[in-house]
Amino acid sequence: MSNERGNESIDSILKEARLFNPPSDFSRGARIPDAAALERLYEHARADHSGFWAELARNELTWHTPFQTALDASQAPRYQWFKEGRLNVSYNCLDRQLEQRADKTAIIFEGEQGDVRHISYAELHQDVGRFANALKAHGVHSGDRVVIYMPMIPEAVVAMQACARIAAIHSVVFGGFSAESLKDRIEDAGAKLLITADGGHRGGKIVELKAAADKALSHGCASIEKVIVYQRTAHAINMQTDRDVWWADAIAPQSAQCEPEWVDSEHPLFLLYTSGSTGKPKGIQHSSAGYLLGAIVTMQWVFDIRDDDVFWCTADVGWVTGHSYVAYGPLACGATMVIYEGAPTVPDTGRFWKLCQDHKITIFYTAPTAIRALMKCGDEIPAQYDLSNLRLLGTVGEPINPEAWMWYHRIIGHERCPIVDTWWQTETGAHMIAPIPAAVATKPGSCTRPLPGIVADVVDEQGQSITAPNKGGYLVIKQPWPSMLRTIWGDHERYVKTYWGKFGGKYYLAGDSARRDKDGYFWIMGRIDDVLNVSGHRLGTMEVESALVAHPRVAEAAVVGRPDDIKGEAVFAYVVLRGERPPSGVDAVLTQELRLWVAEQIGPIAKPDDIRYADNLPKTRSGKIMRRLLRAIAAGQPITQDTSTLENEAILLQLQGKV
Ligand code: PRX
Repeated sequence: MSNERGNESIDSILKEARLFNPPSDFSRGARIPDAAALERLYEHARADHSGFWAELARNELTWHTPFQTALDASQAPRYQWFKEGRLNVSYNCLDRQLEQRADKTAIIFEGEQGDVRHISYAELHQDVGRFANALKAHGVHSGDRVVIYMPMIPEAVVAMQACARIAAIHSVVFGGFSAESLKDRIEDAGAKLLITADGGHRGGKIVELKAAADKALSHGCASIEKVIVYQRTAHAINMQTDRDVWWADAIAPQSAQCEPEWVDSEHPLFLLYTSGSTGKPKGIQHSSAGYLLGAIVTMQWVFDIRDDDVFWCTADVGWVTGHSYVAYGPLACGATMVIYEGAPTVPDTGRFWKLCQDHKITIFYTAPTAIRALMKCGDEIPAQYDLSNLRLLGTVGEPINPEAWMWYHRIIGHERCPIVDTWWQTETGAHMIAPIPAAVATKPGSCTRPLPGIVADVVDEQGQSITAPNKGGYLVIKQPWPSMLRTIWGDHERYVKTYWGKFGGKYYLAGDSARRDKDGYFWIMGRIDDVLNVSGHRLGTMEVESALVAHPRVAEAAVVGRPDDIKGEAVFAYVVLRGERPPSGVDAVLTQELRLWVAEQIGPIAKPDDIRYADNLPKTRSGKIMRRLLRAIAAGQPITQDTSTLENEAILLQLQGKV
């Protein structure tokens, strides 16, 4: 198994000795108040795995019809949880808050330009009901797919909740994805309706969502019947008379009362496309009951959510983090959450800290890439803001380097707030390995231990558990869990092969390598497949390669990750052109054209940071691209691989950019 991050320096191993105990006053009122309580939960889960989850499902979800079977594994690996049960996710998020929290603020929204709105649970319930009725009026029925392509505004959550209310299956496409990516996702899901906006504010500019949607629809997407457009920026856009409807017009005639559609526990709540090791993103399919349970218990255990908290997860709803910890988890727990539309750097790099101050945020959850970027701006920026309301900090999406962890701890948390480093995936639906803030001591860079009811392990090639400390292996999950993905939309075989193939259907293969230290703490080392982690976002190298070779001048391309201080990994592309290689391997105009081309094919996050031209790509005798070699070159490391099989060793110099 190869991974650069596995080769740790002695210094960083010694730093692992640092242990941060839970603050003594943190246990008061915490859902899991101490290590002993956590141990009891582990024991309960070990003694009766499905019974443990069944009890939580009975306690934490409001059922229309109670379930009979906790776990049905008869069609494994298509696991089914809480069978015969019926419920509605939107009811569990909104209606059940009305009795005690109708006037409580559900969402504090701040636009990039500084506009602020407070939306109570009663108002959100009405907004969702009205929009759900509008969806029905436009022909959306239970099981229909609806694609949501929105800026980060409350209406994105309203749209998701409205789909859940009428049992339509949503597929949110991140607003930073291109028209082409949107089209692929619409077509794969066979979506009937698209919800978008005229645009959104980000980075001081308008993101042209409707223009991108028009482009996607003009190229295909025959299944789309209607497009509902929310007016956010009010700049001029095209509206196609027979197809496009303004959000305001769609809801105007509708009542705010919409009976929830009761669905089976296993009814798909959403699809979310994510990158894998082929060029085609996978539509990860999640369930209703199991998914929501995962979001709720992790809000309680890991975020220790309480009634007076103000919770801010900075993720966009286009990612799974924005599903579990913006659109569903906080609402199902009756919490107050913040939604911020824009970039962390507008008008300056103090924006996140100003938001924390102004909205008295108590729990702040973001990605290491954002922490690293803001750390670079200097300690004096956060020092200008009152961060005294913060009581808990979190990270997600990639390993956090100990330096960034320490900065977060000292400068943002004032050495007072525990940091929860949460390991999980689009596929897992909710946190899997993460500290319980009042019960588990943390170590910078480790996501600590699996949560109760999550049976994670590190195994070798044969599937044997690795007990020796610090020896790397495959991260696997050995028992099904309620919030797990159910399948890949339209490709069950790929689901079985990708996640269950390696160990004969016995273990879920996460696709990460990991090691455990002497205390049993997990350290994630990185992906084992051809997936990059760019600024905490998953990106398949094959996706970028397919985009590059779609350009008329490109004959062949190989994409690898290069370590990057801020982004974690940067996209490094080696390109073989049709015809001549540019003289000395330099063609600034073409490089810029290819970068923009990739941005147009996939989205700006996929833009190669480096492009190097060569006459050939290094391949083994069997024709496989020597990616390890390419990774070493991209990282500027010495070449230790055997290159004697290369047909033309001179290309090594080209790949290294030396000729
Ligand atoms: O490699 C792991 C990394 O992100 C991958 C999952 O990406 P995605 O499905 O986009 O979900 C991201 C948000 C949940 C994982 O396979 N990853 C996620 N969280 C961590 C992490 N790596 C290290 N530490 C984490 N806390």
